[in-house]
Formats: sequence, structure tokens, C-alpha cells
Amino acid sequence: MWVQRLLGRSLGELRLGRQISARIVNESNIEVQPASGDKPLTFPGVWLRDNCQCDDCFHGSSKSRKLDWDRFDTRIRPVDLQADELAQEVVVRWSDAHESRFPLKWLRDRSFEERRQAEYLRDFYRPPTRHWSGAEFQEIARHFSYDEVMAKDSVLMHWLQALAVHGVALLRGAPLDEGVVRRLAERVGFIRRTTYGEEFVVQAKPGAQNFAYLSLPLPLHTDLPYYEYKPSVNILHCVVQTESPGGSNMLVDGFHIADILRRDHPEDFDRLCRVLVDWNDIGSEDGREFHNIWRAPVICLDSAGRYTRVNHSVPQRDSHFNVPLEEVLPWYESYARFVRLAIADSHAFKTQPGDVLTFNNIRLLHGRAGYDDSEESPRYIVGAYLDWDIIYSRLRVLKKKLHSDSDADADSELGSQ
Ligand code: OGA
Ligand code: ZN
Ligand code: ZN
Repeated sequence: MWVQRLLGRSLGELRLGRQISARIVNESNIEVQPASGDKPLTFPGVWLRDNCQCDDCFHGSSKSRKLDWDRFDTRIRPVDLQADELAQEVVVRWSDAHESRFPLKWLRDRSFEERRQAEYLRDFYRPPTRHWSGAEFQEIARHFSYDEVMAKDSVLMHWLQALAVHGVALLRGAPLDEGVVRRLAERVGFIRRTTYGEEFVVQAKPGAQNFAYLSLPLPLHTDLPYYEYKPSVNILHCVVQTESPGGSNMLVDGFHIADILRRDHPEDFDRLCRVLVDWNDIGSEDGREFHNIWRAPVICLDSAGRYTRVNHSVPQRDSHFNVPLEEVLPWYESYARFVRLAIADSHAFKTQPGDVLTFNNIRLLHGRAGYDDSEESPRYIVGAYLDWDIIYSRLRVLKKKLHSDSDADADSELGSQ
């Protein structure tokens, strides 16, 4: 039986022509029908009470729950319902004598329907990744103008969305000064500091402390696999590109390689997901000595079996390998297969001065062809890192802002990515 207690009913019906219905089901849930004919939405009572929005239970300016959880009773029951049609709210009286009001829009936005939850996770939490092969690179790689990213929020949003979905995007037309990577990182949020500082210069250096600071070929790798908390996105600004034939970058979608292994070589896949590898980096920078180690598999999965990151570096894999003896050779075989598949799928291109290559460091493998370093033909790349927490947060703020400005174009484009 639908309970319909309509406060201000005549006004509500006249103005809104909508009739909210709500009822208690199974003693603990509340079923709300926003308007006659609409599909009813079911909300667990315990969740509603936990999320009461009144001033006693919720702190408005910090948007934080302040309900006293020391005394929270999971057996709480709704005992009475009212539909306030004028305010478009459902009013609930609880077995602890508390009263809560829930706006219909707030309820709809938090519906427990599977379809709506999937939409929220896809469009707002984190967009799903699209994996690509090297042959598809031209098709998936998005280009943006550096000036537009800096000036227009909608372009900034599309760049970050492309990075999240494809793991790579190229900005063009940046000025040739050393401040570009910082300005770009600060346009998003703030730069990630590592052992190598905030901005770092990739250039052939005498007595190099890092393998990348040589003009030798730099095989496919992820940066800083020896950190537990790895920097998420690389920003590589090409200030000067070598005129020698080398110096191009290679990129591979590590998630795509993992897909191939999972499908065609499941034993190798399982081993690379399971065996902890010691990644390391030893040295000193600006007079500070460091000795970094992090043990992690090559392919890391979350509890649902989705990829969270890949780790790969020939120079920065430790000679300590703390696994049972019998795991060693099989692991080498599986890893060699992963590396061979990655090399075969790699896409190479040479950035030009003013290009800013941005990519997901915990998903893509990247490398650089060797080059001749000479005074007549130098190469000068400035790099920095950003973290996904900072990027996703910025992306959500932009989506909320641009959606509320009813930017229909951005809206539909993002939805279809
Ligand atoms: C690095 C790196 C790429 C390049 O420094 O780790 O990948 O283009 N550099 O020099
Ligand atoms: Zn309350
Ligand atoms: Zn690198």
C-alpha cells in the first residue's frame, strides 16, 4: 500500500503536477516513486539514516557526515513517511525519533539501480580505459593545443579525459622555456616531487646518475617502478630535439600487452601478476643519497581483476630477487615473453620542439631511441609528473562546472568517449 501524505498538496499539484509516493518495504527499506508512472526506487533505511542531511547529522560547509557513529544502530527502522510535494522531498521519521528530509533529486542521484551506478562510475568516478595496439596509435592519440589547454576549461577537461581513457595525449605549440611543465602541472593541480626533484631535465650528462641521462637507447620501461607510490603521469616537454637520426620516443599500452598474455598465455599472465619483483634505484641527487626498493609484480590487479598498473624496467630491476629458487626460471620466461610482445607492438615517433608528450606512467611503457649527442645537435627534454588523484579530482570539478554551465557539446562528447 502506497502511503501518500501530501503536505501542501493543492499547491504542489498545481505547480508541479507531480505526485511523490513513498512506502516502507520489509520494515527497513523505503521505496520512492518520484512521480506517478515512474519506476520506484528502493533505498535501504540504514543507509538513509546514515546519510541524514540535517544539521545535526551532516556538516554542510565541509560536506561531511557528523552523525555520532559511536551510537549508530544498524537496526534502525523508518516508522513514518511523508511526501512533501512542494519541496519535492521525502520526510522520514525513524525508530530513534529522529526526522530526516531527503530531496528527490538527491535520492535520484544516489539510486541503487545497477544502470545508474554504472553510469556514475563510468562518467564521474573514473572513465574506463580503452586499450590499444601500436597499429591503432594514430587513431587513438589525441592532440591538443597547449595554449588552449591553458586558456579553456573545456579543452583542459578533454585532455585529461583522453589521458584517462587512452593513457596518452600530445599537446602542441608550447613555448620553448623551462617553465612549461610546471605551468601545465599547476593548471591541473600541483607537480609530484620524486627523488629527481620536481621538474627534471633529460639530457646526456657526464657522470649520469640515471640511465635516462645518457644518449644510449633507453629500452621500454615505466618510470620509478621502485616506488610504492609511483608518479602517475609523465609530462615530457621537448625544448630541443636532436637533429641526429635517433631520439624518438616509443610507446606501448602495457594493458593491451597484458590483455594478450591473459588471452594467449594465461600461465605467463598469472605468474607476472603473482611474483613479486624487487625494483630498485640507488644513487644520489643534489647531495642526498637514496636507496629505493619496492617489490611488486609486473602486472598489478585490483580485487576485481582489473589492471591497476604495470611495472617494467631493465636498468631498475634489482639483482636481489627474493623468490623461491624454482620460481626464477619460469618467471624469466614469462617476463621475456611480455617484453618481446611489448617491443613488437611499440609505436615510435619523434617529438618536435614545443610538443608536450603526456602519458600514463603506470600503464604505458615508454622508451627512447639512442642518439648522437654533440654540441651541434643537442637534445633537451624537461619532465615532470602528476598524480592521478590530482588529475581525477580536477576532471570531476571540471565536469561538474561545465555540466552545470550546460555545455551540451562537452557533455555528449565525454559520454561517448
Ligand atoms: C626518462 C625517459 C624519455 C626521453 O627520462 O625516463 O623516458 O625522451 N626519457 O628522453
Ligand atoms: Zn539528521
Ligand atoms: Zn622514462
